Amino acid sequence: MTDPAPASSPASSSAPAPAHFANYQNEIYLHGLEDRVPPFTTDGTALGASARAHLDAGAFGYLAGSAGSGATHRANREAFDRHRLVPRMLTDATHRDLRTTVLGTPMPAPVLLAPLGVQSIVHPDAEPATARAAASLGLTMTLSTASSHTLEDVAEATSEGSADAAGASRWFQLYWPNDDEVCASILGRARRAGYTTLVVTLDTWTLAWRPQDLDRAYLPFIRGVGTAIPFSDPAFRAGLAKPPEEDLAAAVLRWVPMFTGTDRSWDRLPFLREHWDGPIVLKGIQHPDDARRAADAGMDGIVVSNHGGRQVDGAMASLDALPGAVRALEGTGVEVLFDSGIRTGADVLKALALGARAVLVGRPFAYGLAHGGEDGVRHVLRSLLADLDLTLGLTGHRTPDELTPGDLHLR
Ligand SMILES: Cc1cc2nc3c(=O)[nH]c(=O)nc-3n(C[C@H](O)[C@H](O)[C@H](O)COP(=O)(O)O)c2cc1C
Repeated sequence: MTDPAPASSPASSSAPAPAHFANYQNEIYLHGLEDRVPPFTTDGTALGASARAHLDAGAFGYLAGSAGSGATHRANREAFDRHRLVPRMLTDATHRDLRTTVLGTPMPAPVLLAPLGVQSIVHPDAEPATARAAASLGLTMTLSTASSHTLEDVAEATSEGSADAAGASRWFQLYWPNDDEVCASILGRARRAGYTTLVVTLDTWTLAWRPQDLDRAYLPFIRGVGTAIPFSDPAFRAGLAKPPEEDLAAAVLRWVPMFTGTDRSWDRLPFLREHWDGPIVLKGIQHPDDARRAADAGMDGIVVSNHGGRQVDGAMASLDALPGAVRALEGTGVEVLFDSGIRTGADVLKALALGARAVLVGRPFAYGLAHGGEDGVRHVLRSLLADLDLTLGLTGHRTPDELTPGDLHLR
């Protein structure tokens, strides 16, 4: 395991002052005095429906869709509904501090942007717009290997969007190419471009059966969308007779079987450690034994995730998998992150109460991107953070660290 900064909350005194995310509520009501309303809904559970009007059917199906019957996505949401918060009173929660540090990255709140590939199908401004919006709030974006822009361009957008250099944090997500040279080359580029933490996605080594995409025969990658990172990679290009700009089909035919279709085993993880000197996080863990194996393999963190219900149909809710993973890693120092189904501030609190250090949000910010590019992403994130801040206070807490399973009632 590498040596991340201590996982403390609130963050160290060198961190910026706590952000007052709840102020977005005041801002919205004050704008109302001038007959101005928010650009689109503030309800995280309604974003998908309202984004539909902004997207063509293929893109909407890809973004909103799940594996198989959609049972896992429904289970994710149902689990949040089953867990209920139990508010406490007279706790002096006027002033709150949501700051935290995750694997050495200071964060203004325990919320990151999940890796989402092919954002150009959602909005032409794509990943750089998301990066600027995240950085403007000091949030960490996790860039997908399936990005529609190069990792260097997105790193630059992150720096542009950030008011202060310390806030421009970025993590990189790996879809593990089965060519070691290409893999090492991409990891080297990511480190040089300032991505600090590597998130290795394990649950998508091959694409699940996704009827919403299959019915339209819709797969962006085979059209060369979401391939900017490999197509700009010297090691990948060296294996092509002609560059992707001259022979797109040949480049696609080389890349698609390289990044999908190969499952691996635990004994391959040292390769990643050899090529990444920062923290490594395994994404897609659900079983407590896999959480233990991640610790045994010297990993720094896990994301308890079922890919937003997009991989295994009929799987357990990710929220239900969280307590087992947290218990399995007690005392190991391995940090537990969570995603799949977060839509509201209350959802974030429930995951934190069950032991997550931080959560990743997926589809909601992409729905924001569909509505209005960078400003749309910012509106979604500010809404979620304001809701989180207010609900934290209204349940009687001043910092996320105060939350425990005792703050929940199970229906
Ligand atoms: C359109 C779309 C693209 C995604 N692309 C990736 C990806 O490239 N890499 C990855 O690890 N996860 C990817 N995910 C999964 C997310 O990182 C995350 O696990 C999931 O969206 C969380 O669930 P939520 O959407 O309910 O918040 C994608 C999800 C969506 C909806």
